[in-house]
Amino acid sequence: MVIVDVPLGARAYPIHIRAGLMADAGVLLAPLAGRGRIAVITDETVAALHLPALAAALTAAGMTFESIVLPPGEATKNWQSLELVVERLLTLGVERGDAVVALGGGVIGDLTGFAASILRRGCRFVQIPTTLLSQVDSSVGGKTAINAAAGKNLVGAFHQPVAVLIDPQVLATLPVRELRAGYAEVVKYGLLGDPAFFDWCEANGPAILAGDAEAQGMAIAASCRAKTAIVVADERETNDVRALLNLGHTFGHAFEAEAGFSDRLLHGEAVAIGMMAAHDLSAALGLCPAADAARLRAHLTAMGFALDPAAFGIGASPAQLIHHMRQDKKMRAGSLPFILMRGIGRAFVAHDVPLARVEAFLQGWL
Ligand code: NAD
Ligand code: GLY
Repeated sequence: MVIVDVPLGARAYPIHIRAGLMADAGVLLAPLAGRGRIAVITDETVAALHLPALAAALTAAGMTFESIVLPPGEATKNWQSLELVVERLLTLGVERGDAVVALGGGVIGDLTGFAASILRRGCRFVQIPTTLLSQVDSSVGGKTAINAAAGKNLVGAFHQPVAVLIDPQVLATLPVRELRAGYAEVVKYGLLGDPAFFDWCEANGPAILAGDAEAQGMAIAASCRAKTAIVVADERETNDVRALLNLGHTFGHAFEAEAGFSDRLLHGEAVAIGMMAAHDLSAALGLCPAADAARLRAHLTAMGFALDPAAFGIGASPAQLIHHMRQDKKMRAGSLPFILMRGIGRAFVAHDVPLARVEAFLQGWL
């Protein structure tokens, strides 16, 4: 068992990482569930594959549980699902001292966390992430949200979980396209601050995609440690540290918006395209060696990422993409920070890149 502690004072929590951990989830959850009651929120796909194992673990630990099962997919992160979950939790009599469990990918984690943040002005929740993306990124750090008509993750709250339980074995049922999308967030940690980890990714990325449990476990532990360090330095994204985690996301969200936040373009696939755009823009601005951008392109291509938005049927003009970027939560007085690169492992927040310059870059890049 690897335990990564997230030391946030009164909001501190452990991330437990171990293959086969699901069988012991009841034992780990029992001290967190005030009355021995758990409400599990999940999606139909995950319920069919992994809810029986969690249910058995809860029963074995003498706990009772209720489940709320939602349709899978990004479209579930909406107002209607939030209302349904909150009303159902109230009907079930869930109290602040009870625990709400998110069993699923980032969609279920973000939605459940937000519901928990507003239920009775805030109740406890536990993340049991089941996709690579959620195991390396979204389950850690307390960002919760739903999407709004105007854009992605525009309605939400910072609400830390009380524990994160990661069983890499559940990835065995994850389609390779989802595994690859999650890998984009793994490689991101190397790019933004750890060139040695990027070297490791170049050597071990194919094993992660091939389902190698040891490589997956190492990638998850390294990613959780990297994210924890960043979250502890800047829990609420106020001092340009946590913002680094948005590498590739401003471009990526614009492509996701153009795809209607649908499963036509997965979040991780959009992030991969966005990270490539950020490197190429940095090279075009003379900030980053072109060789580093080329190295990233070679790695992402070798990992099977499509880096041309057109491959996903996205034919948006640069002006349309800039229009989407203007909806970004980070917009301040008409200006948008971009995460740019001085080289692999050397990301920084640039506050002075005019959107007109980004639009001109996209004219030649798309
Ligand atoms: P997801 O939750 O939609 O899961 C992807 C698909 O995989 C779904 O169809 C799901 O049913 C299925 N699935 C999940 N686990 C499975 C398993 N073990 N076996 C088989 N199928 C399984 O998507 P995701 O990629 O996990 O998360 C994307 C979301 O996360 C986006 O909404 C994004 O905005 C959010 N996100 C949030 C943060 C954060 O810090 N809160 C960070 C990154 C991304
Ligand atoms: N995934 C971005 C963040 O957690 O800040």
